[in-house]
Amino acid sequence: MYEQVSHSLLNEILDHLKPEIKRRDLRYFYIRLGANFYAIHSLYHRLYGDRADFETQMVRLVETLARNYIARDTIYKLSDREREKNHNWFLSQNWVGMALYTNGFADNLKDLKDKAAYFQELGVNLVHIMPVLQCPVGSSDGGYAVSNYRQIDDRIGNLNDLKEVANEFKKRDILLVMDVVVNHTSVEHEWAQKARQGDEKYQNYYHTFDTREVPDMFEHSMPEVFPETDPGNFTWDTEMQKWVMTVFHHYQWDLNYRNPSVFIEMLDIILFWANQGVDIVRLDAVAFLWKKMGTSCQNEREAHLILQLMKDCCQVTAPGLLFIAEAIVAPSEVIKYFGEDAIVAKECEIAYNATFMALLWDAVATKNSKLLRRGLRSLPDKLERATWLNYVRSHDDIGFGFDDQDIKSVDYDPSNHRRFLIDYFTGNFEDSAAKGLPFAYNKKTGDARICGSLASLIGLESAMERSDENQTILAIRHILLLHSLILSFGGIPLLYYGDEIGVINDRSYSEDQAKIHDNRWLHRPKINWDKAEHRHQHGTVEHTIFSELAKMIAVRKETAAFADFNNRELLDLDNEHLFAFIRFNHEYASDRIIVVANLDGKPHKFDLDNLFKRGFCAHGSLIDIVTGRSPTRYQDELILQPFQFYWLAER
Ligand code: GLC
Ligand code: GLC
Repeated sequence: MYEQVSHSLLNEILDHLKPEIKRRDLRYFYIRLGANFYAIHSLYHRLYGDRADFETQMVRLVETLARNYIARDTIYKLSDREREKNHNWFLSQNWVGMALYTNGFADNLKDLKDKAAYFQELGVNLVHIMPVLQCPVGSSDGGYAVSNYRQIDDRIGNLNDLKEVANEFKKRDILLVMDVVVNHTSVEHEWAQKARQGDEKYQNYYHTFDTREVPDMFEHSMPEVFPETDPGNFTWDTEMQKWVMTVFHHYQWDLNYRNPSVFIEMLDIILFWANQGVDIVRLDAVAFLWKKMGTSCQNEREAHLILQLMKDCCQVTAPGLLFIAEAIVAPSEVIKYFGEDAIVAKECEIAYNATFMALLWDAVATKNSKLLRRGLRSLPDKLERATWLNYVRSHDDIGFGFDDQDIKSVDYDPSNHRRFLIDYFTGNFEDSAAKGLPFAYNKKTGDARICGSLASLIGLESAMERSDENQTILAIRHILLLHSLILSFGGIPLLYYGDEIGVINDRSYSEDQAKIHDNRWLHRPKINWDKAEHRHQHGTVEHTIFSELAKMIAVRKETAAFADFNNRELLDLDNEHLFAFIRFNHEYASDRIIVVANLDGKPHKFDLDNLFKRGFCAHGSLIDIVTGRSPTRYQDELILQPFQFYWLAER
């Protein structure tokens, strides 16, 4: 948009740019800057307009964008232009992701590069390597407490190794996803160290207070993330003689985005990694970016403005770069991290679908789809050019943050139902073979979350312990069923490393002092590659899960109806144990797939009337595109075995 005030400011800024910037041919850069400048200026003004140095800060911002553009390699600039041309590229059904710890999946970055063929064997072409940046030994929250944002942790490799991974992935058409932990730094970060030593400039990078008065006011309305290990949201720093805001662990200092220098530093870091070949940046804990007294300090309006500004700025320098929002919040809130509208106020193109994840676990425990269907109906439609990351497990705990109203509307009592889920997954419920552990139990609220690997939560571990062949088969089917849903639902499926070969809980963390108080390590395994070899051996658990997943992934990639264009319709069914939806090809509506899943450990019938009344099967018959066979049918009903699913097409 053209608007005089911002445009004349832009002219002034361009006049003031350093000669080494002015000299360059920055055609594409200037076109994009012109296109986005009105938005950038307005947002920057809303956030920082009251500062006396506003214009100086604006020049710094534009310089940061230009410097990073100049540093951007031609191959990435070309790929930016490709992606601009084909701007819906990431909505395609072609993408299948995996999240992993580099030193859990492999030994280090070099070894990860050597194992790249594994991803192709499975069909994975988007890999999220979890925190690889320098972090303290010990108190690092699994790498989410960063002490240097421009250096790879030397236990994992160096910058050159990362570039080699990026190149290897590029050769194999695998997208590289990396974290930028935007909300907080480690106490060992240079900024925090300087703040500690009394440098006021850096104290203003954080939220620091001389006395308890302000922190006490904040505490009234702020929840606690780790109530057991790190109660409260502030930490007294003896060296600095001040309180500092630490929402997560006491060693993770929350950054102060009221300070434009913090914004510019982070933007510079994001662009730095974009220039190392990172395709997608996962922005950690985005809901927490803005702190306002009297609120929960989550999902604040300004947190969204910060993200819009980051997006608008990155579009100028590295428009091919995508953002993933990690906002594990209510459906009505999470949807806002895509932005307000597709063109004017875009934020993150991708967001974790924590709602779907938690609802799937509800369905595992209840064996029915009551809350799953209800909860999904409360999930608003996305913007255009936005997509979900659909996942079953991640490196974090599972929280049952469903809407109380939704729970009530399917006739459960919210607190009893949550209690039931926790009991179920910790194996304290009859019939439950789950081996999870509670996480972050909050004495004040009674809330808890759950840890454990997929295989252990679903009952595979106990079935194998008991050498119960029947239960083992059922647990494997259950694992495949959950994956069949994230692969077909719409969005990018994100597998969690180890789940593809049924890795069970790893209890070794309890011998490590730095990990013993964080149960999430239960499901952050070190892959045993001798065991992983079993994936080539028929009849093994590893082989069954891996090969079935590989097959489903291949079929997904060929199925245009699985691309994500809000092209899904949930079916209302009489049988509560079944869950079904239709996916439409967004170009040819007659090309559609019906996904039907049996969430129960007993067989069920799917009434074909559900399809007939929608005009399905008028001519021809149904075929399951995974097996290539007709589904088992008795008269007008399909039969689904325990935990069986179908992806049905009309032929
Ligand atoms: C994110 C990470 C989690 C971490 C937290 C604080 O939610 O996924 O592992 O503890 O941020 O950085
Ligand atoms: C994230 C999530 C929260 C999770 C925490 C630690 O910030 O919001 O749900 O439990 O990190 O894993």
